[in-house]
Amino acid sequence: MRIDIITVLPEMLEPFTTQSILGRAQKKGLAEIHVHNLRDYTTDKHRRVDDYPFGGFAGMVMQCQPIDDCIAALKAERDYDEIIYTSPDGEQFSQPMANELSLKKNIIILCGHYKGIDHRIREHLITREVSIGDYVLTGGELAAAVMADAIVRVLPGAIGDEQSALSDCFQDNMLSAPVYTRPADYKGWLVPDVLLSGHEAKIKEWELNQMIERTRKLRPDLLNE
Ligand code: ADE
Repeated sequence: MRIDIITVLPEMLEPFTTQSILGRAQKKGLAEIHVHNLRDYTTDKHRRVDDYPFGGFAGMVMQCQPIDDCIAALKAERDYDEIIYTSPDGEQFSQPMANELSLKKNIIILCGHYKGIDHRIREHLITREVSIGDYVLTGGELAAAVMADAIVRVLPGAIGDEQSALSDCFQDNMLSAPVYTRPADYKGWLVPDVLLSGHEAKIKEWELNQMIERTRKLRPDLLNE
């Protein structure tokens, strides 16, 4: 799949897109992440992409022209399944949304900044508005990085053990079971016996019980969805 990220701070996204899961997935040819500097698309001679809001409100607003031209340039090259705008008033990002977006071929993520973007862009070009949580970030770059990471890691082959993305927390709307590694006895802190038994069915049953128990205790809201 291909993810195009539009931002006024491309250098902020660089470490996320070239390293770790996103870097590895690109090397394996599973994903392509392209970061576009919005300032490259402005017709303003000072490379400005924002202006004062009509109505005398506080803050600055990202203008239509550079965003429209950048999206038009991308759309001229290929079709996009979604044009996403990162905003605290968007739909809440979640594991099901990451799974769904991982099935798309091409998506654009437009990072918001300042007081936001001219609303006409939201009305005419954006197909989906996404928030990563009920708090306000300085810009949408961290939200775009979070989303790209969660989307790419569920692509088949993106992480070493293919099964492990499927057994992630939230994949069945449940938290994961606890995990342990050697030694089985560390300072008298013991690994549950069942995990050392080699009895696959019993281990599976233990895992499921742990998932249900932990979800009920820590995130009961997930069981009602
Ligand atoms: N931009 C600012 N805050 C944000 C949030 N919580 N989610 C997505 N984009 C944002």
